[in-house]
Amino acid sequence: MKSSVWHPNTQMSEWSSFDKIIKGKGMWLIDSKGNKMLDGVASMWCNVWGHSNLELVRAITTQSKKLQHSPMFNLTNEPAEKLANSLLKISPQMYKVFYSDNGSSAMEIAIKISLQYWQNIGEKKKTEIATLENGYHGDTFGAMSVGYVPEFFGKFKKQLFSTIRFPVPNRYRVPKGMNFSDYQNDCIDKIEKRFSKNNNIAAFVMESGAQVAGGVIIYPKGFQNKINRLCKKYDVLFVLDEIATGFGRLGSMVQYTEQKSVPDIVAYGKMLTGGYLTMAATLTNKKIYNSFLGEFNDWRHLFHGHTYTGNPLAAAVANENLKMYQKKNLIKKIQKTSKIFEEFYQEISELDIVGDIRHKGMLMGIELVKNKIKKSPIHPKKSINKIFFDEGKKQGIYLRTLGNIVMLVPPLAISEKELRLLLKRTISTIKAAKSQLV
Ligand SMILES: Cc1ncc(COP(=O)(O)O)c(C=O)c1O
Repeated sequence: MKSSVWHPNTQMSEWSSFDKIIKGKGMWLIDSKGNKMLDGVASMWCNVWGHSNLELVRAITTQSKKLQHSPMFNLTNEPAEKLANSLLKISPQMYKVFYSDNGSSAMEIAIKISLQYWQNIGEKKKTEIATLENGYHGDTFGAMSVGYVPEFFGKFKKQLFSTIRFPVPNRYRVPKGMNFSDYQNDCIDKIEKRFSKNNNIAAFVMESGAQVAGGVIIYPKGFQNKINRLCKKYDVLFVLDEIATGFGRLGSMVQYTEQKSVPDIVAYGKMLTGGYLTMAATLTNKKIYNSFLGEFNDWRHLFHGHTYTGNPLAAAVANENLKMYQKKNLIKKIQKTSKIFEEFYQEISELDIVGDIRHKGMLMGIELVKNKIKKSPIHPKKSINKIFFDEGKKQGIYLRTLGNIVMLVPPLAISEKELRLLLKRTISTIKAAKSQLV
């Protein structure tokens, strides 16, 4: 049967068909032919407890018998209220929660709030957004503007709003004549120079802890904190995207506390519902929220809202998910399980086509290169993703690479045994894929 579905970020001509997943069990995906694949990317970085988890399924069915959806326009609902309280409890300095249904929207909202904030307080000059090169915040126009990855979004450059972009220190690609410490200082100096020259910047938007889609660039210690301090010094709002890095992915519930930084706005998504239903949240501090208050005819309120904003089913499963984080002490478990990655550092880095491995918490990026010394990227005719997906499938693992980076982003509660299996099979996949890559 010919499929009518157009798949995301996919050169459709490379695929004659797609495996049909009919069941998920624990960390495994099962297709219509009965083949099992270990979910190496947590179903796009969102799965926490594995598939078909009974407690999470029960939370959805229980809520669906009471109320499947009611809007946030003029109304509220109990699961969304409860979730907002829980999110504020885990997010120091945050004061209000604005819901949406995907990460890109959560970031659009963060951008709109930060731009409008300055207008609300009568500061007309602050209209620019600063970001880091190579960041990623989603696929909608505002998110593409702020998280501009040239390969992804070059075709829309003319329609995107311009941002002020600063380099991010990548330990693997330190500029000639510099050591890594100089490089970091240089990145920070560039930001300070620009901030002090013309203070027209409304907000600095960055991923918290690491850039994920941009190639798993893990920030050096103190980097995020230094940007935070510059934002405070020069009165620039500090906006963090924890959609991929919060909720334990990098080993802490909230990454910004580990980074000793305090945002004015933070966005969560992906793992918020354990990977069961679509929901995201944008949290702001009191100062920002209060600036939106006034008489109705002041028109200061936030013009943003989606049909499914604050959906009670999604909120109910998110509440159960958060309860399970506590009950099962997930963050502690992640800190222990994530050490398994280290057992494989040497074996992976010795592979011919592996240039670099970058790892933090339950995230690993393996950078493939044609030449280890020159660090030159691989450009096969076929997409690297397709090659790795096909080879991974033969090994019984589900992989989705990002350009030259093999991403390992397993469900957070994966067992040590399954994580070892994933790593062993990834090594076999890299070996098997090599002849098609170079
Ligand atoms: C850091 C970050 N922000 C935003 C998004 C966009 O989220 P969504 O795909 O739910 O729109 C992603 C998605 O990968 C992401 O990694």
